[in-house]
Amino acid sequence: MAIVSPSILSADFGKLGADCRMVLDAGAQMLHYDVMDGHFVPNISFGVPVLKSLHKNLPDAFYDVHLMISHPLQYAEAFIKAGATLYNFHLECEDDIQATIDAVRALGCKVGLTIKPGTEPQALAPYLDQLDLVLVMSVEPGFGGQKFMPSALDKLRWLKAEREARGAHYLLEVDGGVDNATAPQCVEAGADILVAGSAVFGAADPAAAVQHLASL
Ligand code: DX5
Ligand code: ZN
Repeated sequence: MAIVSPSILSADFGKLGADCRMVLDAGAQMLHYDVMDGHFVPNISFGVPVLKSLHKNLPDAFYDVHLMISHPLQYAEAFIKAGATLYNFHLECEDDIQATIDAVRALGCKVGLTIKPGTEPQALAPYLDQLDLVLVMSVEPGFGGQKFMPSALDKLRWLKAEREARGAHYLLEVDGGVDNATAPQCVEAGADILVAGSAVFGAADPAAAVQHLASL
């Protein structure tokens, strides 16, 4: 059974609360919250106030906050106070990685690191023992609805083997182009958590889409 984290970037923002409630009721265990700053990636999404409103209305949800921003250290406190359950930032950001991990931990939040398609998973080695989650991007970050890059699969395999070798505890998440065709490959390669945006919110029956992915 996979954990499903629907990317609400593909939700209808005019009824965001209802869309979140719908996927949670369908069995999604997390909400994937994509923050984009127009600098780290060439797109802007939503930030702290929207997370705060969602958290106020759905306080028990797990907020899997994916920071596609250049300066995650600067915004950690604001996002965590707004309700982030997991602060998931990029290894390729401009801030000091260890200082950012330490700050997130000091604020009492779970911490994850994400790698872009051009980054090898071995680059995460200094941090792996400290992480709750590693996210492997299977598209270039910035936009929903892109095509899955199979190069993510070998990264998942390596990270799964490395977790065993170290006795580490991080969960493995994959994000980008995950749908009914690619999700089984991701699970086979070691993904514990499937992020899916267009495959859920673009489906004729989003609840059924969540249930199908969760059954893998
Ligand atoms: C991409 C985001 C993803 C995106 C996934 O930059 O990090 O979470 O919303 O969308 P799909 O599932 O449509 O590829
Ligand atoms: Zn994402």
